[in-house]
Amino acid sequence: MSKTRSSWDKRAPQGPALTRVTRSCIPQARHIEPPQPQDSGPGPHGTQQRKQTDSALPLAQDLSLMSVSGQDTSLPRKGRVFKGSSGPIQGGPSSSGSKPTQSSPSRPAVNPSPRGGLAAVSRLVKLGRCKNVVVVAGAGISTASGIPDFRTPGTGLYANLAKYNIPYPEAIFNIEYFSNDPRPFFSLAKELYPGSHRPNYIHYFIHMLHHKGLLLRMYTQNIDGLEKISGIPDEKLVEAHGSFATASCHLCYTPFPAQEAKSAIMSDEVPVCTFCQATVKPDIVFFGEDLPEKYFQHSKDFPKADLLIIMGTSLQIEPFASLVNTVRSTVPRLLLNRDAVGPFQKVPLRRGDYIELGDLLDTVRRFAEFLGWHSDIQDLMTSQETGTIPTLVSSVPVSNVPSGNGRGRGGPTQTKATGLGRRGASEPRGRLPPKSRPGARGPTNGSSEESDSETDSKSTVSSSPSN
Ligand code: OAD
Repeated sequence: MSKTRSSWDKRAPQGPALTRVTRSCIPQARHIEPPQPQDSGPGPHGTQQRKQTDSALPLAQDLSLMSVSGQDTSLPRKGRVFKGSSGPIQGGPSSSGSKPTQSSPSRPAVNPSPRGGLAAVSRLVKLGRCKNVVVVAGAGISTASGIPDFRTPGTGLYANLAKYNIPYPEAIFNIEYFSNDPRPFFSLAKELYPGSHRPNYIHYFIHMLHHKGLLLRMYTQNIDGLEKISGIPDEKLVEAHGSFATASCHLCYTPFPAQEAKSAIMSDEVPVCTFCQATVKPDIVFFGEDLPEKYFQHSKDFPKADLLIIMGTSLQIEPFASLVNTVRSTVPRLLLNRDAVGPFQKVPLRRGDYIELGDLLDTVRRFAEFLGWHSDIQDLMTSQETGTIPTLVSSVPVSNVPSGNGRGRGGPTQTKATGLGRRGASEPRGRLPPKSRPGARGPTNGSSEESDSETDSKSTVSSSPSN
């Protein structure tokens, strides 16, 4: 039987003998030992964990660890006290000046194309040019399920953490902060644990990509588990920031029964490692921790992608955010979001970049209509609720539907191979919630490539009429 401590007041022992040894952390003031060597010791299951570093990216800090872009979140920011709910995030990335690449406005000054990104990309899909679609997603895909995102001023999670009295919003997911005081996270975890929300149309749109044989992989930062609940199979899903489905010691990574961890946390008890007595936490990836092993499939997936769809993310968290820069330069990238983010803030847009700004639910619905998938998605949603399997008819020409897992040609890689992280949390599962509403011009050849060049060459931004 695993142990728990009886109240938040009792913390994990923090003596020097309990220095975290299996995953390295960003060098910081509190820890005077030098950075961990590449092989930093036995992993949670006795295996050596090897650091994979991206040689093509700057090494100012350890990019394998989760961090806010351009900022070392492991360091407490003295003098900044998070005030909470009113206005923009205090001490967050935007206010710290350490934002990603652009500090400028979020909407690029690009003339909207009359055709728009949705139409252009839909056309490529219908032509069978996108058979290895990679989806990169964040919290914006779950707001329609009633789950707040993180950084939207006012409504985002980070704007509503005042009651936890933490120095800055991301501290609640900071491994060093947790190590010293797990109470804020555990209090929040009681609200975040899966169980009360349902996937929405957007999740089912992604599932439909899989049904059509077009989804190479979905990379999500979400810890709500709605992707899995919507039926996207494990092998198509990378939960890059972990999930609540498994738990382990935050110090020695000894696995701990997830249900027991949940029960303890829900009862305001601290789950304690049976091996080292340190605090156990769900395997969601904290700032300063490594990403799950599965995340590293990106080095194979992104070079294969022939369409990248980015949905509902601010692209502020590394190493995840940099993934979008690792598709081939000829591959179309479609951003569906309320704001332009990451490389889509640059003017002019990269050739082949498309933006559709507005409410994601509306946008994805329109995308589905362009593709002729709307009723299929509705059937799929119904079937998930009733357990019946819908008969879905592919709208992609049969000859273009890939066999097996939908992988296609390998092809040349202009990607910067981002060896962005290394192993962290065990492979998880996510969060449930209450019933609610829910061409690439890849190295293809032939004349159709040429005939579509007009579409491919456009970089567009359009705004949803609903906005
Ligand atoms: P953010 O909150 O940073 O960004 C969400 C993005 O989605 C923003 O650009 C919003 O404008 C957009 N958005 C939200 N609702 C939308 C809607 N209905 N329609 C259109 N756009 C919408 O969330 P993430 O980028 O996912 O880490 O954050 C990344 C990571 O930061 C998270 O994984 C989390 C956090 O620290 C952990 O959970 C450990």
